[in-house]
Amino acid sequence: MSDGSSFYITTPIFYVNDVPHIGHAYTEVAADVLARWHRQSGDNAWLLTGTDEHGQKILRTATANGVTPKEWADRLVETAWKPLLETVNIANDDFIRTTDERHEVNAQKFLQHLQTEGHIYTGEYEGYYCVGCEEYKPTSDLVDGTGDDAGVLVCAIHSKPVELLHEKNYFFKMSAFADQLLALYEANPDFVQPESARNEVISFVKRGLSDLSISRSSFDWGIKVPWDESHVVYVWFDALLNYITAAGYGQNDEEFASRWPATHIVGKDILRFHAVIWPAMLMAAGIAVPKQVFGHGWLLVGGEKMSKSKLTGIAPSEITDTFGSDAFRYYFMRAISFGQDGSFSWEDLSARYQSELANGFGNLASRVIAMVVRYCDGEVPLGGEPTEADLGIQATEKRVTDASAAFIDRLAIHEAVASVWELVDELNGYITLQEPWALAKDPATRERLETVLHTAVRGLGTLTVLLSPVIPVATGTLWTALGGTGALTDQRIDRAWGWAGGTHVTPLEPLFPRIESTVG
Ligand code: ME8
Ligand code: MG
Repeated sequence: MSDGSSFYITTPIFYVNDVPHIGHAYTEVAADVLARWHRQSGDNAWLLTGTDEHGQKILRTATANGVTPKEWADRLVETAWKPLLETVNIANDDFIRTTDERHEVNAQKFLQHLQTEGHIYTGEYEGYYCVGCEEYKPTSDLVDGTGDDAGVLVCAIHSKPVELLHEKNYFFKMSAFADQLLALYEANPDFVQPESARNEVISFVKRGLSDLSISRSSFDWGIKVPWDESHVVYVWFDALLNYITAAGYGQNDEEFASRWPATHIVGKDILRFHAVIWPAMLMAAGIAVPKQVFGHGWLLVGGEKMSKSKLTGIAPSEITDTFGSDAFRYYFMRAISFGQDGSFSWEDLSARYQSELANGFGNLASRVIAMVVRYCDGEVPLGGEPTEADLGIQATEKRVTDASAAFIDRLAIHEAVASVWELVDELNGYITLQEPWALAKDPATRERLETVLHTAVRGLGTLTVLLSPVIPVATGTLWTALGGTGALTDQRIDRAWGWAGGTHVTPLEPLFPRIESTVG
């Protein structure tokens, strides 16, 4: 237990060349669940998300649409990226744009510092650049194009031709940090997770690090290099700095000291930037490295990464318009092992909605509350001596409270949710077995009825608290119906098992109503 300690968690800042799809929403939800969980554990949790707005990719999209890059970014941020947070119910504490002054000014400070300390030099570079990745690509990451692109090399991720660039650039002496990085991975096995990601990063660094080109001079959509205004800062170097400029770096030392270092949640496509380049930049600047970099898997379509560039993106609202934001959050957190790839399917979503959310949890809540209303006029009974069965439920409450917290500690979100669901299933089984409706028929079993309903209401309260980070809307409604005191989001999740119960319940509409339309 770590009362009041900082838990600073970030998502990647997303490119604004296009609108979000469910892959971006997936990262947002995972980070939000972790932030909410930590907030309810008494930590000083802070969730940062935002947008990555400089670079050639955005410049080209804006130009193709006949507007300036800033106009394009403003439009996409307001009409697409901020609304995404509403769509999937993200409780972020901050939203940074790389065009914010607080970012531009302090990113320049950082770069100037590295220059002064001798980590920057001028060099020439020739190589293949992928605008989709915004990255120089080693030939090992390129493949032969097909169709229209036959005869040219294309990026293995974007399947688009790379461009041969020859530029005079500023370079960051990243190669100097290889040994320090390897020592970091060695000394702190949790620094890069999951294990597969860690292994990949270690073998990448062991193959040898080159220096990093950190400026571009052939276009000007970016942050100016402070000592040479004919160059703009390389978009990735610019973007990574968001994690510190949003936390007060360069302008509020006290805030920065209280928040940093962060836990970075990213897709595995951008793992190396976060687990190699970013800590090397921080080491050069004498700033603490991140607490952890977690590379989650990809949502796949037809075995390939869902992507904007391949037009395989599904808009998050396609799902939430029908199923709601809770179902979106629950489905992706439950059905995909966090850290591994997963395929989305409408059938699987519908099936889990029906069996787990509607029949499993929603129905449990409705039944319990309806019985307290019917048999006890809504007063939560105190009950009598607990039996073995009642004590079993209480033991499960404690067990899943502790187990889910342990899973969250290692970012195994899917296992945390599965663990909480053991209580859902057990409570359903308990009610089926105890048959309160039968107990209610005979005045002689009145006390037993009250004990059963008391146990059920308490179990439901525990579930409400434990599930609030994942399905905040439904649990908020349920909390009110259960007569819980105070805001649900103020309830300590590590003490969910000890919830003493409200005194009065009020009728509850179905939390997860039947969905009539067929989808898919
Ligand atoms: O890379 N499955 O931005 P980006 C799961 N601006 N997650 C996915 C996904 C998929 N199919 N597709 C995208 C950038 N994502 C940079 C980041 S950070 C300093 C700069 C998610 O718009 C996942 O989190 O291309 C992935 O890492 C991110 O979107 C890439 O977003
Ligand atoms: Mg991308």
